[in-house]
Amino acid sequence: MIPTNYLIIGSGVAGLTFAIKIADQFPDKKVTIITKSNADESNTKYAQGGIAIVTDETGDSYQKHIEDTLICGDGLCDEDVVKMVITEGPKRLKELIEWGAKFDKNVKGTLDLGKEGGHSENRVVHHKDQTGQEIQRAILDQVSQKENISVLDHYFALDLITKNNCCYGAYALNEETNEILTFQSDFTLLATGGIGHLYGHTTNPIIATGDGIAMAYRAHAAIKDMEFIQFHPTALYENKAGSSSFLISEAVRGFGAYLRTKNGHRFMLDYDSRGDLASRDIVSQSIDLELKKSGDECVYLDCTHLDLEAFTTHFPMIYKRCQSIGIDITKDWIPVVPAQHYLCGGIVVDKNGKTSVKNLFACGECSRTGLHGANRLASNSLLEALVYSDKIYAYLAHNPITMNELNGVVSDWKIVTKPAFDSRYISEIKAKLQLLMRQNAGIVRNDADLLKAKEQLIHWENEIDEITKNYQINTDLYELKNMIAIGYLIVQQSIERNENRGGFVKLASIK
Ligand code: FAD
Ligand code: SIN
Repeated sequence: MIPTNYLIIGSGVAGLTFAIKIADQFPDKKVTIITKSNADESNTKYAQGGIAIVTDETGDSYQKHIEDTLICGDGLCDEDVVKMVITEGPKRLKELIEWGAKFDKNVKGTLDLGKEGGHSENRVVHHKDQTGQEIQRAILDQVSQKENISVLDHYFALDLITKNNCCYGAYALNEETNEILTFQSDFTLLATGGIGHLYGHTTNPIIATGDGIAMAYRAHAAIKDMEFIQFHPTALYENKAGSSSFLISEAVRGFGAYLRTKNGHRFMLDYDSRGDLASRDIVSQSIDLELKKSGDECVYLDCTHLDLEAFTTHFPMIYKRCQSIGIDITKDWIPVVPAQHYLCGGIVVDKNGKTSVKNLFACGECSRTGLHGANRLASNSLLEALVYSDKIYAYLAHNPITMNELNGVVSDWKIVTKPAFDSRYISEIKAKLQLLMRQNAGIVRNDADLLKAKEQLIHWENEIDEITKNYQINTDLYELKNMIAIGYLIVQQSIERNENRGGFVKLASIK
């Protein structure tokens, strides 16, 4: 049993920024971060475009950013939350800069602001096309300087410890020793990120398997808006399922690139007056339609007319990646295809990041704050995580957690020696699950396919439950269990939604 005051599950922007603040506020308290891979592995690390923040009120304004967010969310955003998050942006950016994160400047020496789909102004603060990596570096560096923070990497959180709707910590598997440890905590934060690997094609790294949402669901926390999956329009098309797709940032279109069909047609102008810079849901849905019409495997991003020197300065990673697979962006169009990118829904939290379970909080991509509604505006995710980790910290600074009576609540995980399960079978079901989600719960859905998927998911859920009872637990098995639970939530909430909004499109089933 490992006692700690603050247990944080996940080491992306949400978990780490909260840890820094709470550790400073309560230097005598113990802050423990558990994370299932290396400490720097997260969706955060791969963020390219940047953080949407109103930094210069001469051309831009909070009101414009608020309106863009509301339009993008297609009527389902919580307006108070939108206002709160957007107006707090500049303070959170200042903090990141104080922690050592570097953002690109223009020739005038002010922040260089990029543009992405759905934004009416240039407002995306960035570090070349590696904004996430720079943020992750700076905040991990801060974390390493705090004596009261321990970072335990390669610890996989299995389940929350709850009783009478109150959380007392979590069980976690030490992936190196296979021991299951009991972390007993006054406060628990789920900061476990997204769900990308539920779909065969995703921009997310392999850690994104929805673990935190599945744990919260098993603990009976409220989960909402799971039907709003965001597909990014421009993942590099390389024709390989099951692994992460490389992202071609939307900022490339903000920089002037055009989408074209194989025949060269700039099709986005047929769908939306904003053309290539329409919001992500519209661009992905339009590409999906074009591909269904033409039977082609991908569409293309044309950068051939752009200034090469400026392009390589802004997007060095994208340039190198294209070059490494033989694409010369001055001559060749980049093949792109939509891929799962982000989950707009998740664990329901209030404005202080509190879930419906006492002493359990959630932050970042695993949470559902109401900011994104039916479709997230580009580069609003890092912003949301920064603002909410601060809100949770501020709440706790004024309302320290008082622990409920612990007698008999927290007991160790029952260890029984069991045989190992055949890992090939786990990989097989995982591949089938990814295909099922792509085919039956993708960009355009229908009830008949969703119902078939639901039946299959229930079957797998029962099967995996039996396996987890009778065989030794490991990360792959538990990730699969979690992914099946998330698949069920997406499918069930898609069945329940009868109105198309933002990133959600359901057509009448063909009988
Ligand atoms: P993450 O950064 O994903 O961190 C989750 C952490 O939880 C990881 O450390 C993981 O290992 C850990 N974890 C998960 N499950 C467990 C478990 N069971 N036990 C222990 N640890 C666990 N957003 C923007 O705003 N701007 C952008 O430019 C942008 N670009 C993006 C580009 C790409 C390619 C991707 C994939 C996303 C992008 N996003 C962008 C989205 C944004 O990066 C993420 O939504 C955000 O970083 C999520 O932060 P987080 O802290 O919630 O989760
Ligand atoms: C991108 O750079 O296109 C991703 C931005 C985001 O997901 O917000």
